[in-house]
Amino acid sequence: MENHNSNQPHEIIVKAQDPKVIEAVGAQFLRESMLKAQHQTRTLTLEVLSQIQEGMTEDEARKMALEIFSDYGVKKHWHRPYIRFGAGTALTFHDPIQPDYQLQENDPFYIDVGPVWKDEALGIEYEGDYGDTFILGENSEASLCAKTTRELFQKARQIWLTENATGEQIYSFLKKEAQQRGYILHEKVDGHRVSDFPHQKYSKERLAALTFKPADAIWVLEVQIFDPQKRFGAFFEDLL
Ligand SMILES: [Fe+2]
Repeated sequence: MENHNSNQPHEIIVKAQDPKVIEAVGAQFLRESMLKAQHQTRTLTLEVLSQIQEGMTEDEARKMALEIFSDYGVKKHWHRPYIRFGAGTALTFHDPIQPDYQLQENDPFYIDVGPVWKDEALGIEYEGDYGDTFILGENSEASLCAKTTRELFQKARQIWLTENATGEQIYSFLKKEAQQRGYILHEKVDGHRVSDFPHQKYSKERLAALTFKPADAIWVLEVQIFDPQKRFGAFFEDLL
């Protein structure tokens, strides 16, 4: 039963988004350290890529990725590595892994990693977050889908840079653009904050919900699309 006084006008509370709150960072946060962490994250993603082999399961690939990061001194991950094979590329990190599926020749796969890098001099930890999609062999349809996520990312980045697009505008643009190219955008997968670890203490806001232009070097933009028959999908993610 509703419990409000009918003599009072109904009050609608609109919670304004305050960039100062949503985009807060630690007192010692350095943009260049953030960029360095992301650069190292990209480099190790390529190292993981080079070790992906036919016959592996998604779980084996994840363990291998954790070992590679560990060899480079990364023991902490703000999100564990997500690696998806074949039709699993149409699935998101919300979905369970395919326990038995083994990577086949000509399969697409994506790698999404979230390592935490320590700046030893200042003792501050920085979050990396990078994702990309590859093909084991050749697969023109899946390859086009992977190429499309990268193009969509670049186009979205351009409207952010040149038109001061808000998070909402970026994702409505991505949804329309994906559709025009014959794909469906995973709307539950969008960007979020990154920063000195953990970004969750500053904000859990979704990039797609932002009514202002996101600031540089503290947000990741995620683009995941899939084929309407869900035969495959592709994912790309990087720092804005
Ligand atoms: Fe990620």
